[in-house]
Amino acid sequence: MSAHAAAVTPTGIASIGLHFPPLAMSVEELAQLRGEDPKKYTLGLGCKEMSLCPPDYGVVELATKAAQRAIRRWGGDRTRLGMLAVGTETAVDMSRPLSAWVADRLGLRGAVRSYEVKHACYGGTLAVKQATEWRMSGAAQGKAALVIAADVALYEQGDPGEPTQGAGAVAMVIDEPNVAAIDSMSYPWSEPEFDFWRPVGTSYPLVDGPLSLECYKRAAENCFKALVAKRNPEEALSELAAICFHVPFPKMVKKAVFRVGEFFGWSPEKIEELFRDKVNPTMVWNSLCGNAYTASLWISVANALKGLAIGQRVAAFSYGSGFGAELLTLEAGPMALAGAWEEDIEEDLASRQQVTAAEYETFRGT
Ligand code: HMG
Repeated sequence: MSAHAAAVTPTGIASIGLHFPPLAMSVEELAQLRGEDPKKYTLGLGCKEMSLCPPDYGVVELATKAAQRAIRRWGGDRTRLGMLAVGTETAVDMSRPLSAWVADRLGLRGAVRSYEVKHACYGGTLAVKQATEWRMSGAAQGKAALVIAADVALYEQGDPGEPTQGAGAVAMVIDEPNVAAIDSMSYPWSEPEFDFWRPVGTSYPLVDGPLSLECYKRAAENCFKALVAKRNPEEALSELAAICFHVPFPKMVKKAVFRVGEFFGWSPEKIEELFRDKVNPTMVWNSLCGNAYTASLWISVANALKGLAIGQRVAAFSYGSGFGAELLTLEAGPMALAGAWEEDIEEDLASRQQVTAAEYETFRGT
């Protein structure tokens, strides 16, 4: 294949599978347990429910279920899967990649490049970019990639981050762009910082909360600045049907939208309108799930893509602490309109159980 032919290989999301774990707790319940005003969590942070995993359920189960759903929906020949990349920060081993556990459950072996990607919440996006570039380079020789973003986000009990907890997984087959094409051009920004990190051997992250908020906003400002470049910002953003963000908690996203809008010199009313029309609607599933780290952005993207007509465009801002960020753009394909993956969320929400504060304390081990 010539370099020119490789560059035009049609590439994007061919199918999506999602999975939320079987338990959840409202943030009001947590507020009661921690002696906080529930409005701090609901209005102050914008949170609603936290997805939780029971003791015998974890990132392997989350990733596998999402992958099974994505593969079934794709309907392709499994021997065409030449890459399995799992973005996660819920590593189960320091050496063996999470992809090996998932491949085992899926029965995937052979001529497959199988690996784990780590960069905090940005890992899933990096896996998507690698899979896309692998196909576009021609190295894939027409094969498809299975990309999974899966995490269980838990903070130490009583940590300010506790109400933002969550868990979930998104799997995507990267192949023909039937759901959405992913533009090869994207807009990265990174700066080495200690905003959120988890030293080797520790169970919970360490967080500099105010710094993490500032890093996220700075990254968003720089990525959107690069996207708009010399164009009129209003015109550039009006081409987007939806703008998705990594969602550590919904209020963070609103703060970032304001930072970007202020950078463009917009009035508060104009920024509020952008947030209301193009950003807030994409976070419906996130607010029922909590922060699912690598999966959070892609849960929002999956929500935004469902119902779109061919050619409608979406932006996706990925942020991972440490920090690295990247703004991607996608264009809806013929299968976006039906949004078949919505049934995954409906099924998981219908079957999940709400836990009480007492039950939560029991399985967190107090
Ligand atoms: P905190 O310090 O407890 O909260 O933790 P606060 O005191 O800053 O209050 C939060 C908001 O609630 C404020 O609103 C208060 O005014 C309001 P704001 O002024 O910011 O708009 N508030 C109330 N509102 C109504 N009624 C009340 C009330 N009381 C207060 N009664 C913090 C907040 C975000 C720091 C904490 O949750 C945290 O540490 N979270 C984890 C870190 C995080 O999510 N950072 C976000 C950016 S970094 C990121 O996205 C990466 C990440 O996903 C990890 C990765 O990449 O792997 C985290």
